[in-house]
Amino acid sequence: MASGDAYKVSSLKGKVTLITGASSGIGAGTAVLFAKLGAALALNGRDVESLKKVAKECAEYAGGTEPLLVPGDLTDEDTVRRTVEEVVAHFGRLDVLVNSAGILALGGIETSDLATYDRVMNINVRSVYHLTQLCVPHLIKTKGSIVNVSSVNGQRSFPGVLAYCMSKSAIDQFTRCVALELASKQVRVNSVCPGVIVTEVHKRAGLNEEQYAKFLEKCKQTHALGRPGEVDEVAHSIAFLASDAATFITGVNLPIDGGRHAMCPR
Ligand SMILES: NC(=O)c1ccc[n+]([C@@H]2O[C@H](COP(=O)([O-])OP(=O)(O)OC[C@H]3O[C@@H](n4cnc5c(N)ncnc54)[C@H](OP(=O)(O)O)[C@@H]3O)[C@@H](O)[C@H]2O)c1
Repeated sequence: MASGDAYKVSSLKGKVTLITGASSGIGAGTAVLFAKLGAALALNGRDVESLKKVAKECAEYAGGTEPLLVPGDLTDEDTVRRTVEEVVAHFGRLDVLVNSAGILALGGIETSDLATYDRVMNINVRSVYHLTQLCVPHLIKTKGSIVNVSSVNGQRSFPGVLAYCMSKSAIDQFTRCVALELASKQVRVNSVCPGVIVTEVHKRAGLNEEQYAKFLEKCKQTHALGRPGEVDEVAHSIAFLASDAATFITGVNLPIDGGRHAMCPR
């Protein structure tokens, strides 16, 4: 092994990376880790104040260099176009796209209306399709990579979160299909599929503090490793898939779920 190869996994040095959902949870944790690993960052989220806080934390690990902020609602087509234009105008290139923006909505076939279905699909699937489509020409130039944040809900079926499960199955299939389409151009496309990770997503979907505490308690049974996961555990896997340590990995939907995908609980 040539000297330096041993450090491939821990470096994203110089990789221009656009991260969505960077104002909270998994996307925010990924932004901070990528900053530590030397990536040059562009961050999207809607909540500008939160995005600025994350950017400040990133700058602490990047010699004071702040990430480029490209805030806005990704269900808006003009925002998606503007986001890609601004990133490329600023950095002149794009190496990595991390699609982490997403929402969870509670409800099944009897209780979840079409407005909920549209709301979930628009951000979790349609905006990912659109943003990825506009980033692909730039990723081809750099032989870059894409990491989508899917979910164990894409691989396994759960009652009461129907639109969400469908949206993540779509992302799993999107990942594999686009991986095959772009393989000849040396662009790698992978997903991470987290189990329950402690973020805002469940409370935003409507769980109150008490329900959320019970939900996390139940994770001791629903996850083989006996606990929910932490943002950092997902961020490290995203960094691995985006890094030169994963140059022969594409089309993978990688569970980061404490073994939940392998369980058949009754
Ligand atoms: N936490 C888990 O247990 C878990 C498990 C499996 C998969 N996931 C997936 O992980 C991803 C991140 O979720 P999280 O847990 O980190 O949740 P989170 O803390 O609620 O963060 C969600 C992020 O998505 C952004 N977002 C939502 N709607 C948006 C829109 N229309 N336009 C632009 N940005 C939008 C939010 O931005 P603002 O806050 O600025 O609006 C926020 O930055 C999601 O795709 C989720 O499905 C989470």
